[in-house]
Amino acid sequence: MTSATTLQPTSQRSVTPRAAVPLGDRIHRLLAPLAWSSDRRIARKLLGFSATELGSALDMFRATELAETAEHRRLFLRHALDESRHAVRFKEVARRIDPTVRTRAHERVHAEPQDLYRVLGVAPFLAFVHISEARALSQFRALHRHFEARAKTRASPRDTLLSELFAEIAREEKVHVAYSLHLLQGLQSAREVRTELARTRRRLAWEAWKRAGARLGSRASGLVLALTFIAILPLFALVMRLTRGGLPKPGWHLPEGSRPSPSAPATQAHDRALAAARRLG
Ligand SMILES: [Fe+2]
Ligand SMILES: [Fe+2]
Repeated sequence: MTSATTLQPTSQRSVTPRAAVPLGDRIHRLLAPLAWSSDRRIARKLLGFSATELGSALDMFRATELAETAEHRRLFLRHALDESRHAVRFKEVARRIDPTVRTRAHERVHAEPQDLYRVLGVAPFLAFVHISEARALSQFRALHRHFEARAKTRASPRDTLLSELFAEIAREEKVHVAYSLHLLQGLQSAREVRTELARTRRRLAWEAWKRAGARLGSRASGLVLALTFIAILPLFALVMRLTRGGLPKPGWHLPEGSRPSPSAPATQAHDRALAAARRLG
């Protein structure tokens, strides 16, 4: 396996930008262990990771087809094969933990290729790969440490399995972080690399904000509709009752001038008079 350090030329290490992890990702990593509390949740999370890894693999295969140099093709192909294996490994472990769990619908879309190499161009694509891989590496390392600590305190085979899984995958993500930056540095000056990475982080932050906004908007509109039905409609009914004025009460009414029903007072008086006449006669 190519190591991360061999992919990073010494002359360029001094200008190597750190792969910054946004605050949201740090919070997510801190909270992530809370979401890994039951077998079902763990299996679901692993299937979500598997879908994302599959989407990455398909995009890297596509980049391999489009790459213009032999070095890029070789490293992209290697990356694609790694991501394919990660997808299989995550799915295997998910099935072992809970065979009944299925990939959630909103995570299935992550398994779709986005053709990012063609859409973005080579340098923005490499910046995107570098930042995404750095975030994945950070998350998998955190999960490895989480399950390693749990395996020690609870002697749980499941926690040991997960700790080893995340350690195994994090080792390969580290190579992806290093090679993508190495290729980017081969295309651009140190200053251009910093600019490219900053631009990509801004774009990813904006896209994350839009996704969060769409989710928040959907929940807020649901809440507003529920409040309308619960609070506003009864107010309308009250206002109608108070402002009815001379209008008839709501409900069924006989039209004006129609024959009264047998229970009407005039009919009852007539019936009583007829009964009295019969008694006399
Ligand atoms: Fe991966
Ligand atoms: Fe990766």
